[in-house]
Order: sequence, then C-alpha cells, then structure tokens
Amino acid sequence: MCGIVAYIGKKEAYPILVKGLQRLEYRGYDSAGVVMLNQGDLNLYKKAGKVADLKHFAGDQDIAGTIGIGHTRWATHGVPNDVNAHPHLSHSGRLALIHNGIIENYATIKEQLKKRGFEFKSDTDTEVLVNLIEEVQQKENLSLEDAVRIALNEVVGAYAIVVIDRTDENVLVAARKGSPLVVGVGKDEYFVASDASPIIEYTKNVVYLDDQEYAVIPRNGRMQVKTLGNVEKTPFIEELEMDLEAIEKGGFEHFMLKEIYEQPKVIADAVRGRMSASEGWIKLGGVSEYINRINQAKRFIITACGTSYHAGLLGEYLIEELARVPVEVEYASEFRYRNPIITENDVVLAISQSGETADTLAAIEIAKERQALIYGICNVIGSSIPRATHAGSYTHAGPEIGVASTKAFSTQVVILTLMALQIAQHKGSISTSYLRQVLYELQNIPEKIKLTLKLDAQIQEIASRFKDATNFLYLGRGVNFPVAMEGALKLKEISYIHAEGYPAAEMKHGPIALIDEQMPVVVLATNESAHDKIVSNIQEVKARKGKVIAVVNEGDVEIKALADYTIEIPATEEILSPLLTVVPLQLLSYHIALMRGTNVDQPRNLAKSVTVE
Ligand code: F6R
Repeated sequence: MCGIVAYIGKKEAYPILVKGLQRLEYRGYDSAGVVMLNQGDLNLYKKAGKVADLKHFAGDQDIAGTIGIGHTRWATHGVPNDVNAHPHLSHSGRLALIHNGIIENYATIKEQLKKRGFEFKSDTDTEVLVNLIEEVQQKENLSLEDAVRIALNEVVGAYAIVVIDRTDENVLVAARKGSPLVVGVGKDEYFVASDASPIIEYTKNVVYLDDQEYAVIPRNGRMQVKTLGNVEKTPFIEELEMDLEAIEKGGFEHFMLKEIYEQPKVIADAVRGRMSASEGWIKLGGVSEYINRINQAKRFIITACGTSYHAGLLGEYLIEELARVPVEVEYASEFRYRNPIITENDVVLAISQSGETADTLAAIEIAKERQALIYGICNVIGSSIPRATHAGSYTHAGPEIGVASTKAFSTQVVILTLMALQIAQHKGSISTSYLRQVLYELQNIPEKIKLTLKLDAQIQEIASRFKDATNFLYLGRGVNFPVAMEGALKLKEISYIHAEGYPAAEMKHGPIALIDEQMPVVVLATNESAHDKIVSNIQEVKARKGKVIAVVNEGDVEIKALADYTIEIPATEEILSPLLTVVPLQLLSYHIALMRGTNVDQPRNLAKSVTVE
C-alpha cells in the first residue's frame, strides 16, 4: 500500500529517504513527502505525483538534517493531493508522522479533538493520529515514546507509523499493527522501512517488528523494542538474504519485463532442494512438522486475492487431480465475511506474494479460530502471513517490484505442484513412474520457459496488431482456465483494456454475444486431453469473425490452420502447462501496455501490497 522510510544517524537523511521512497514506490504512488528535522525545524516537502515530482520540488530547498521520515502514498482517506500527502504535522507543528494503514475510529477521535480546539488541514486519518499523540503528550508532558504508546492504545485499525518530535533530534519512534515495518541496524545509524528494499544497500542486519510492538530508536546507542502494553522485548536481529541486484532493473526497461525473464531462474530456485526426479522424492521443508495433518486432510481450502487466487485455482486442479482430496478455492475478501464452515480436519492454504494482503490475513485468522491448520505460500520473507500461519513454504521468487505479478505466480504454482505431488505420493494416488515423469518435466520447465521467451519478438508483433482493441477475451479449459483469467487480469491491470477470462466451453453461454471482427480472442490450446473441444471453440469464434490468437504446442498444424495467429510453445506434461502458457500472456500484456504508453510497473490506481480491505 503506502511505503514508509525513516533515517536517524550521521549521514544526511534526505538522499537516503528519497532513494528509499523510489525503491518503495511500487507499493503506492499517488503522492510522496519527506520531512527532515534540523536544529529544531521540521522542513516538510510533499507533493501529489511521483517521488520524481517530490525531488524536483524539494531538491533546491532546505533539506539538511540527519534525522527524517518519508512516505509514498496510495490514497485511502482523502484524494491524492499535496495536502493529503504524508508526512503530517501535528496542530502545533511539534510532531511529524508517516503512516501506512487505516485508523478505523478516526472520525470519532477527530470530532473529539475538534471540540478540544484542534484544527485539521487534510482529510486523512493520519493527521488525526498525529494530533491524538500530540494531545496525549501535551496533557501530561510525556516523552514521545509514552505519548505514542498511550495514543495507539486508543486507536482501532491497522498501522505502521514513524513519528519524530521537533524538540528532540535524537530519537524516532516506530510502531506496527497489521502493516509491516522493518528496522535496519547500521553502524551508528538506523533505518526504518515498510520492507527491506530501501535498507539493503546500507546494512543487512534487520529487526522485523511484530504486531503491536513499537521501537524507540535513538541516534546513539541501542534501540528498544516494546509491546504496546509497555513490556520490553529483546530485538531479534536477522540477516537479509536479498542483495541489491535483486531490486534493480538489471538492464531491462521495466521491472515487469525483468521479472518475466527471471522465471526460469526463480522456478529453479523454488524447486531446489525440494525434489529429486531421479530419486523420486519431494520434500517441502515447511511441511515436516505437520506432515500427518496435511497428508490426512479431509479438505483443502485455498484462499487468496488477485493473481495469487488464480494460482489457487490451479492448486485445486493439481491437488484434486493428483492427490484426490477435495479442494475449495475462495477469494479471501469473500471468505472472511461469510461465516465459512471450517473444521480441524481442513488445511487452509493462504497464498500471497507480499505476505501482507489484509483480506488474506483476515481469512487466516478466521480459519485459525476454527482450528484448521494454516499453511502459507508466500514470497516476501518475514512478512505478516508467514508469521500468522502454522507452517508454510516460501516461493523464493525474489523481490517482485512490478505491480503486475508475474514470477510470483509461477513460483506459487510450483509450490502447489510439489505439495499436490507430495500428498499424492503419500496417499499412493499416483504411480511412482508418473511421479518421476512429472518431476522430470518440472525440472525441464526453466529450459522450456527460456525457449518460450524467445518468442518475444513475435508476441510484440501480435501486440502491435491489437494494441488499440477495446476488449479482449481469454479462453482456456482445465488447467488453462485459471491461466485465461490471469492473462485477462494482466492485460486489464497494465494496459487498461477490458478483458475477461472464461472457461472456453462457457463462452457459448454468454460471452459469445460479444464476438465480432473487432474482438481478439486469446485461446490457450495446449491441453492434449481437450484438443478437439478447443478446436471446436476456436471454430465457434471464427464463425463470428473473432480474431483468434492461439497458444499451442509446437507443431500443432490443425490449430495453426484455423487461428489468425499462433504462438507455438514447447509441449510439456499437461498439468504443468500453465507454467508455460502464462508466459506469452504476460509478454502480450506487457507489450500492449508499452505501446499504449501506460506506466507498466506502476499502473494507475493499483498498489503492490494491499494492506487495507
Ligand atoms: C496482480 C496483482 C494483484 C495481487 C493481489 C494479491 O498482478 O498483483 O492482483 O495478486 O493483490 O496480492 P498478494 O499476492 O501479495 O497477496
């Protein structure tokens, strides 16, 4: 959602804050701001727009100071403009605060503060919080730390905040509940950020704050971590595994393109040490402690949002097909509000790239209350979902910075495949030879993706033909139906073209009415088991003059003769084909978006990690 960065130490804060905000911009990007504290002055600069606009605005003003906080915003309360941008100052100008999350009872607190003489400049819940802290601080002449703790105990909602006080240049206070916060521990300096990306180039030592904890971070000396109940805890310093290269574009024009091209590598990373095709074993590390509960599960419930939900739909095909255990897949945002039936014999798989999605976290809490085993499939190490689950597997896709998810999806599918195979092996629902065959093919997927990526120029050409379309239809059957949905989502997100993903056979029950000579229809046609049926679906589209772009297995002359464009990809085991068919769809949406001049990595209105409902 929003991105937070803060610095205290010996260096100038401004360049660190601005660089950090640029690294966090993928989280939210409708406005940005910084405030540096220098000799008792809070020098505040904030602007609607990108971090680059902020730099342009602030660059030649007074930006000195070795303590400061910065924020990049994705609006929840109040339109994106200069006034609503963070940081927010308190009524007297003494405190400055940045905030990620939502204060749910802000309206009530605001009314009370207004009655007591506070005035507000913005429409944000954040300005309410900073004034509440100030009121508490003034009333009893408290330290910043005490005022923050007492105020946060009055607040309902989710937050990650950092606060500084004009009267004390030697401390910043950071707190979290429901939104991530990590503290970088350097030599005589500290960094605070929403994730590790702004910190990595300065230090690899970090402390992840837990929910309901705050940190008192001094200019000199040891930071203190306490609970909101004022109990001190020993901070646990972890070493980051990520390196700087992983969060830079590495010669690609966009993060999204880099991440599409990283798929062979990250899939290899996701399977490394977790399987052996020659020896016929699978071992998902996070499973071991709960292996019996997983193997004996009566039902799997998969819950997730967006692209991760599409991976979940594939999980349903994989687990039911291979392990023969019933699976339900549900949007976390629906699941959390509909009083679902969950028992202790269920295993809930929560899938999330960011590990921070508020709806998925809420769904986990409900399932936990009802005694299910919760298994997380997440990418961001140390994020909230892996902390909230009983067990889990990281996807090891590395930082995904393009807002449209690509490599995270592929690695989620890999983990679901391994999980389905592991349970199937335990249950004996597949033969040893078939298990090995699938594992061999899984091992070959990175090479086959590399071959698929070689079709980039052809896909670019197809993109140029359809870049002005106003609608797209994506059709798939079986395992390629979720891929059709994912292809449509990618196109919508970054090119702003309306698109729908449909089961190919469902088309005749409605969407067929949309088809005319203007309608591009992307058909995923690699399923050997349904080849004839897909041929019929293509004929139905052609009969209505739709333009067919078919993704087929190499050498499929039958479909080549029918379709307007064919993208020939290497054949693989049918249940693994989504790992290949999704790649041309990612590239197609990338090139169309590029040709339409949209901001590919930071599409309008979207945020990478959706920490509010
Ligand atoms: C799609 C996309 C979103 C996310 C969704 C869930 O490209 O990025 O639809 O997939 O917001 O996010 P995570 O996986 O972080 O829970």
